[in-house]
Amino acid sequence: MMGGRLDGKVAVITGGASGIGRATVELFEAEGAKVVLADIQADRGEAIAQGSPDIRFVRTDVTREDDIKAMIDVAVEEFGRLDILFNNAGTAEPDAEMEYIRADAFDRVMSLHVRAALLGIKHAIPVMRKQGGGAIVSTSSVAGIGTNYGPVNYSIAKAAIIHLTKLAAVRLASDRIRVNCVNPGMITTAVFGRAMGLTQDEAEEKYETLRQLAPFAQPLPVGGEGRDIAEAVLYLASDAARFVTGQALVVDGGLTAGQVPDPEGGNQKILAEMFGVDFEALKDKARGRTV
Ligand SMILES: NC(=O)c1ccc[n+]([C@@H]2O[C@H](COP(=O)([O-])OP(=O)(O)OC[C@H]3O[C@@H](n4cnc5c(N)ncnc54)[C@H](O)[C@@H]3O)[C@@H](O)[C@H]2O)c1
Repeated sequence: MMGGRLDGKVAVITGGASGIGRATVELFEAEGAKVVLADIQADRGEAIAQGSPDIRFVRTDVTREDDIKAMIDVAVEEFGRLDILFNNAGTAEPDAEMEYIRADAFDRVMSLHVRAALLGIKHAIPVMRKQGGGAIVSTSSVAGIGTNYGPVNYSIAKAAIIHLTKLAAVRLASDRIRVNCVNPGMITTAVFGRAMGLTQDEAEEKYETLRQLAPFAQPLPVGGEGRDIAEAVLYLASDAARFVTGQALVVDGGLTAGQVPDPEGGNQKILAEMFGVDFEALKDKARGRTV
């Protein structure tokens, strides 16, 4: 259904051929935006663009600055402006213990996530400034907040994206360029298969397996999907968020809020037993039902 929350807006979305990026391309188009889909996967990107006059595919490797500049240029040349940049392309690699971290792997991950987002912002600035403003959103992760949600290099990169977001938000505020990031929890996409060393195609074949696990990954017993993140990106990118900048919006079904307490009492019960306290009587007392 056509929404219209992005009527007249032009967006560039990196990593738009799959997962969160693809869901965002589809939602933005439905909300009235013209979209430049920038991705390294040409066949998939072209297939998506062929389905709509409002989507252009531009083959982009976000680890190359020339490609980043080119995708911004395409937005201006094809659609006349740039209102929204979504720095989202990224993937995961198998993790290594800290004593085995490789310098080349670190550089690759930082370049794909942090350098690409920074250069995306850099090349969006002149266009947005001239237009009198714009909205930039980058994809961080719960791995950028907690220490146990992803590989080491990946988590460092995602944390850096949060700080980049704040830095850019402050420095670009006077140009009315808003800069925010989204921090997804577990979302059914190719990223988990990639972290297991699978190719992009193989990883996408595992979606159904992931969907079986996804409802149990966080307090909310539902599986996170790309659309859940796209909705958050839509909010941050739209005029509804005109007073929001420098924020990291966590969309994780409660994952980072904490674990669901053990209904049996867990550690509290063990501690009560160690203290020689009657746990059930203690609970009754707390409920106001003193026996
Ligand atoms: N899926 C999750 O649970 C989750 C959680 C937190 C953060 N993220 C982040 O979300 C973003 C999107 O990933 P996803 O989960 O949708 O995975 P995905 O693999 O489905 O999509 C990633 C897309 O990025 C593209 N890409 C990879 N390298 C690229 C490059 N060098 N240049 C251009 N495009 C490139 C891929 O071709 C792919 O289309 C990533 O930044 C990822 O780290 C995902």
